[in-house]
Amino acid sequence: MARLTVNGKVREFEAEPDTPLLWVLREQLGLTGTKYGCGVAQCGSCTVHVDGVAVRSCVRPVSTVGEAEKIVTIEGLSPTGSHPVQKAWAALDVPQCGYCQAGMIMAAASLLRSTPNPTDADIDAQMTNICRCGTYNRVRAAIKAAAKGGDTKSAGLAIRHADGSTT
Ligand code: FES
Ligand code: FES
Repeated sequence: MARLTVNGKVREFEAEPDTPLLWVLREQLGLTGTKYGCGVAQCGSCTVHVDGVAVRSCVRPVSTVGEAEKIVTIEGLSPTGSHPVQKAWAALDVPQCGYCQAGMIMAAASLLRSTPNPTDADIDAQMTNICRCGTYNRVRAAIKAAAKGGDTKSAGLAIRHADGSTT
C-alpha cells in the first residue's frame, strides 16, 4: 500500500507507479471535484496543489509524489467553500457549465499565493487553463477581487492543513 497526504489526511492507495495522480485522486480516493479534460497538461481542469504549487495531475505520475508532500484538491481548499477565491467566484458568478472551474480556482489560489496582487500580465502568464464556455473575463475579475486586501495572509489566501501548517 502506498500513501499520499491529501487534504490534511494520510490516504492509502494501490496503483502502478506511472498512474497519473489524477486517477488516484478520482478513482481510489473519491475526490471527483478534480476533472479530466485533455490528459496532456493543456487544459488545466485537473489542477491540484502539491505543497502549494499548482500541478496538472493528469501528467504527474503518482510515484513522484512523496507522502510528506501536501496535496490539496478543490475539496480541501477550505472546509466551507469560504476561501477568498471561492467567495470571489461566487460573488461574480464566474462558472457557466462549471467543468473547468475547479482547476481554474486551484490555479488562481496558487497564483494569488505567490503573487498577491497580480497584474493582467501575471494572470495571463499563469492562468493558462482552458474554458470552453469562455469565462476568462470573469475569472480575471474574480482574481482581482480576491486579491483585494494585499498579501496572502491578510487576504486569507493561505491554506491551513489539518496539522496546523499552512501552504
Ligand atoms: S486534464 Fe490535465 S491538463 Fe487537461
Ligand atoms: S465554465 Fe464551462 S468549460 Fe469553463
